Amino acid sequence: MPSSINTNKSTFFTLRLASDAIHVLDQRALPREQRILKITTPDDMIGAIQDMSVRGAPAIGVAGAFGIVLSARGHRHLERGRLIEAVQNDAEWIREARPTAVNLMWAVDRMLIALEKLSAQADFDNDDIVRELEYEAQAIYDEDIATCNAIGEAGKHVIPSGSSVITCCNTGSLATAGYGTALGVIRSAWAEHKSLRVIPCETRPRLQGAKLTTWELQQDGIPFTLISDNMAAVVMRDGLPGAGPIACVIAGADRIAANGDSANKIGTYSLACLAKTHGIPFYIAAPLSTVDFNCPSGGDIPIEERAKEEMTHMGEIPITPDEITVYNPAFDVTPAELITGIITEKGLVTPENLKTLQG
Ligand code: MRU
Repeated sequence: MPSSINTNKSTFFTLRLASDAIHVLDQRALPREQRILKITTPDDMIGAIQDMSVRGAPAIGVAGAFGIVLSARGHRHLERGRLIEAVQNDAEWIREARPTAVNLMWAVDRMLIALEKLSAQADFDNDDIVRELEYEAQAIYDEDIATCNAIGEAGKHVIPSGSSVITCCNTGSLATAGYGTALGVIRSAWAEHKSLRVIPCETRPRLQGAKLTTWELQQDGIPFTLISDNMAAVVMRDGLPGAGPIACVIAGADRIAANGDSANKIGTYSLACLAKTHGIPFYIAAPLSTVDFNCPSGGDIPIEERAKEEMTHMGEIPITPDEITVYNPAFDVTPAELITGIITEKGLVTPENLKTLQG
């Protein structure tokens, strides 16, 4: 039983809107260094999303919305109509920064709808437009935290006291505006004074589980044992020495198709297959902004392929022979039939019932 509960009273922020710039905690430097990037242009925001200084589906949605604010700030000296055109143009580039997480497109499109409404306000000058876009982006940020809290509440019962839970990648405060999705569910269970142990998979090749999830869990005082990805099968079968039985696997998602097929960090599909073999429930925790009802099934989800250096190097250190062939998809799709339930801010549904939440 935990002696003191800390429900993610984080001493850090993932990103935030400031008057001089967007401040971003550079996740490439974690856990060794808390380096803040001050981003002032849409191009630099696109760069930060692509190089994964900021990452995780909901967080890059917020980053996209903040990128629109930077565009409007940068063009505020233009004639009003030209300002609106310039922001619309930048929005096209921002929404393409990474292809799989639909939260990015969702947030940019929400900002463009706000811009369209503002453009109809003849009495609004450029300063009014910038200010209103800042409000909208901040609302997306604030709503994301509230949504993560609701996901935590909706899912906490799937983790019984005395059990262990396997997760992958990083789905915590760092992957969202705050609190997290799958990690938010774990935080909410922990806040209920449940005794539990988290088993984060290290998540090759970028090691978000080893570097980021452990860092967050350590700060909250939530017990965990890190495993490498290829240990998952034996841990599901035998459990961990001294830890409670594996109650479930909970993962996040970058895009959920209308039929419930879910794209998430590479390796998630392997965990789902292993969970089925071992009779362990497998859950996806994600906000409804991650559900793409226009995408019929997982085969329609674009999967990002990233640079081969993520595989051939550990940080700056080469670990393979030079000039080898590498396959490096950043995500895989878990078919709906392997998913026990999808935990959203509107409750836990089976993949077949996801459409009932469309709204
Ligand atoms: O490539 P990343 O680190 O951006 O991938 C992140 C993930 O796959 C997360 O599991 C997903 O975005 C859900 S996070 C709330």
